Amino acid sequence: MTVKIAIDGPAGAGKSTVAKKLAKLLNYTYIDTGAMYRAITYKAIQEKVNLIEENKIADIAQSADIILEGEKIFLDGKDISEEIRKPGVSEKVSLVSKIPKVREILVQKQRKIAEGKNVVMDGRDIGTVVLPDAQFKFFLTASLEERAKRRYRELKTKNVNVSYYEVLKEIENRDTIDSQRDTSPLKIAEDSIVIDTTYLSEEEVVEKLYNIIKEGLKGEI
Ligand code: CDP
Ligand code: CDP
Repeated sequence: MTVKIAIDGPAGAGKSTVAKKLAKLLNYTYIDTGAMYRAITYKAIQEKVNLIEENKIADIAQSADIILEGEKIFLDGKDISEEIRKPGVSEKVSLVSKIPKVREILVQKQRKIAEGKNVVMDGRDIGTVVLPDAQFKFFLTASLEERAKRRYRELKTKNVNVSYYEVLKEIENRDTIDSQRDTSPLKIAEDSIVIDTTYLSEEEVVEKLYNIIKEGLKGEI
């Protein structure tokens, strides 16, 4: 039996930071599904595709060679880990991820990557759609202001020139599109454990999740 851990939630809730640490602790594979949607968006922008041309974007999603390697992501052989985090991609990614065909293609790829492995996968629809049978489902959240503050701090350390207000608006806008789209919107899976991380450190969140998993696996780890 393999163990699947799903972590969903809005932008800046701490999903990827916590998922990476958890995967390391457990020696599981970390799968960043947001990076895949970002990679398709990056390629569509590079190829100057109008984002309302859904079929063209679906073709990109189908033909793109995406490889996740630890914390790095390669698109058609090129390391694009830095590029996909830039504001240009962040502003557009929700328009790409709401295209049903794009979701269908990426969900298939995500399931394939997870097949036969112990994984920690983070995103928006992991517990609801990608891995509905996951043994552990977490939904991380935090106040909009706290999430914007975290993302702003992160971008500042990377010398990206944006204001706190711009980051807050970008996150708010993305959350709205992600929650309101028709195909697999961001929502809490019925059997998921909700954790508000507003006043918790990364370490505290990791510890909480680790203890729940340890308890659930009854000493198998
Ligand atoms: O790190 P951050 O929360 O800012 O975003 P991300 O996890 O990299 O995801 C970027 C975008 O991809 C999200 O805002 C969603 O539009 C989309 N996404 C999705 O639709 N489904 C997923 N499973 C993961 C990401
Ligand atoms: O993946 P997601 O968009 O949910 O969030 P993230 O990229 O993991 O976290 C955004 C930023 O918040 C990172 O710089 C984390 O170091 C920070 N963070 C935090 O300050 N406190 C937490 N409890 C979790 C994350």
